[in-house]
Amino acid sequence: MKDTKETMGLYIHIPYCQKECHYCDFLKFINRDDTIDDYIHYLLKEIELYRDNDYLVNTIYFGGGTPSYIDSSYIVQIVDKIRDVFDISEECEMSIEMNPESITHEKLQDYLNAGMNRFTMGIQSFDDKVLRMMGRVHRRETIFEKLDLMHQLGIENIGIDLMFGNPKQDYGILQSDIEQAMELDVKHISYYSLMIKENTAFHRWVQTGQFILLDDEQEREMYYLIQKTLQENGFEQYEVSNFAKPGHQSRHNKKYWTLENYIGLGLGASSNIDLVRFINVSDFEEYFNMIEAGEFPIYESEMMNKEEREKEYIMLNMRLLQGFELNKFEHRFGVDFLTKYHAAVQKHLEFQTIQITENRLHFTDYGLDVGNQFYLDIL
Ligand SMILES: C[S@@+](CC[C@H](N)C(=O)[O-])C[C@H]1O[C@@H](n2cnc3c(N)ncnc32)[C@H](O)[C@@H]1O
Ligand code: SF4
Repeated sequence: MKDTKETMGLYIHIPYCQKECHYCDFLKFINRDDTIDDYIHYLLKEIELYRDNDYLVNTIYFGGGTPSYIDSSYIVQIVDKIRDVFDISEECEMSIEMNPESITHEKLQDYLNAGMNRFTMGIQSFDDKVLRMMGRVHRRETIFEKLDLMHQLGIENIGIDLMFGNPKQDYGILQSDIEQAMELDVKHISYYSLMIKENTAFHRWVQTGQFILLDDEQEREMYYLIQKTLQENGFEQYEVSNFAKPGHQSRHNKKYWTLENYIGLGLGASSNIDLVRFINVSDFEEYFNMIEAGEFPIYESEMMNKEEREKEYIMLNMRLLQGFELNKFEHRFGVDFLTKYHAAVQKHLEFQTIQITENRLHFTDYGLDVGNQFYLDIL
């Protein structure tokens, strides 16, 4: 009785990259290819730990690091194992993150054979100077080459990741990046504003004054340009940084923002199961040893109390342009949102940061940008 099962998303972390980008603090390793065989071996064993489950998996997401960096036979083995251990829905969305330089015909063919149906590629910019400064391996030409390859193989559900707000990426470069992106045949765009993370080259360059960051106003102007141009070109904005052609929103990523269930597999991956959050260990040895001992490789788990879940629900859902349904909130938490948060709601309706449309509370365009004060008032 497939339909009565609880649905589940799976995230699989592939923590390997060819080179470290200057802005990135995601969990990934460079020059540790000697561990790949063991890592996949234990990842398959971790999946095996879930054998007695009663879930229906309807989204699978390979993220990283760079999933396309490792041999595609590893990805195929993981998908096979998932199919063996979990019940997979017929409409399962199966995504993989890729970097242009590591995409090959053979890998794409293997992904397709394994059932992958959503492909995202980290482009960041079309400008070679910007790419070099970001520490990316690929150059502009590679982007078009690999997009052509995907189209030749009949792949249509393509998403791209772009970034803005780099110190050397001025308004003119951003304009041409956006124009270029609008000429591509892609269905999804994640357009991230640069975040300066500790322990990255960018962080050091900001500290030593080598980098001057954009001020808020410049950044906001760029964000508005992105929102406006993408919308004019048929991309609906559905989250602060995410835009999609109709029918192409990321079903998996939406689970994070709506607090739905997902299991994170692999080093450092986090899971959310019935509102308990688990985080896996992020050290290879520890990961291998725990799985070898038949244990889930969990570093910590955190059970949110009702008040915390309520706040988390508000914070995550407000990232979505459509916000959340007031009835659903009441149904889920047993409180009337407008009564409980009366003062904050009145204030922000007056400031025009939020809006209520057809029983949904959501940010206005202005509010999306200055939403922090709303969160502070709610918290
Ligand atoms: C963690 S990466 C993984 C996918 C792949 N390795 C890649 O580089 O595209 C996912 C995306 O996060 C974004 N990202 C990473 N670090 C960021 C940062 N410091 N600020 C904003 N966006 C960032 C990039 O756009 C990147 O494509
Ligand atoms: S941005 Fe992607 S390719 Fe670059 S270091 Fe981070 S995970 Fe690796």
